[in-house]
Amino acid sequence: MPCASSLPCHVTFSRIEIHHLPQVVDIEQRSFTCPWSLRQFTLELARPYGDSIIMAGEAERQVLGYAFWWVVTDEVEILNVAVHPDFRRRGLGRLLLTELIARAGLNGGRAFFLEVRPSNLAAQALYDSLGFKPAGVRPRYYDDTGEDALLMRLTIE
Ligand SMILES: CC(C)(COP(=O)(O)OP(=O)(O)OC[C@H]1O[C@@H](n2cnc3c(N)ncnc32)[C@H](O)[C@@H]1OP(=O)(O)O)[C@@H](O)C(=O)NCCC(=O)NCCS
Repeated sequence: MPCASSLPCHVTFSRIEIHHLPQVVDIEQRSFTCPWSLRQFTLELARPYGDSIIMAGEAERQVLGYAFWWVVTDEVEILNVAVHPDFRRRGLGRLLLTELIARAGLNGGRAFFLEVRPSNLAAQALYDSLGFKPAGVRPRYYDDTGEDALLMRLTIE
């Protein structure tokens, strides 16, 4: 996409490849209390029903964010979404999710699901702004705190 005033120039999207993973792991560790390991990311890249995108800055040198999801029939399970801490609140999270929805939609995805911590108000606000609605609770979903997960759903035509 072209330069926008509050965004880094030349934001590009592509499928995540092994060489992106060191930057992805760095962002992951700075974003989550229970981060995925390099091994988990590597396994996700090999799943036949899995997909992923990297959002990168100019010439793909800097990873700005990433997302992983599964598509099974018309259902999409969003597994992992993060934006680099230095680039948050500039619209990149919304851009990343919009790209994910478009790509998964092209592969037949119609019903999008994700789990989010009740304490993660930033992510909930992002999902809400994209039209995701509460769809239930998964009790004691998170091992580290025993927190429930809020299940959210978006349906597209
Ligand atoms: C959640 C996350 C991806 C949002 O990325 P971002 O690039 O900062 O999001 P955006 O700038 O696109 O924000 C889009 C909307 O989300 C909401 N939002 C984002 N961050 C917010 C915050 N800290 N507080 C309140 N609302 C927030 C706002 O509604 C915002 O719209 P606005 O800026 O017009 O008010 C980012 O904070 C992140 O990577 N967090 C750590 C990892 C994580 O929690 N992932 C989700 C797990 S379920």
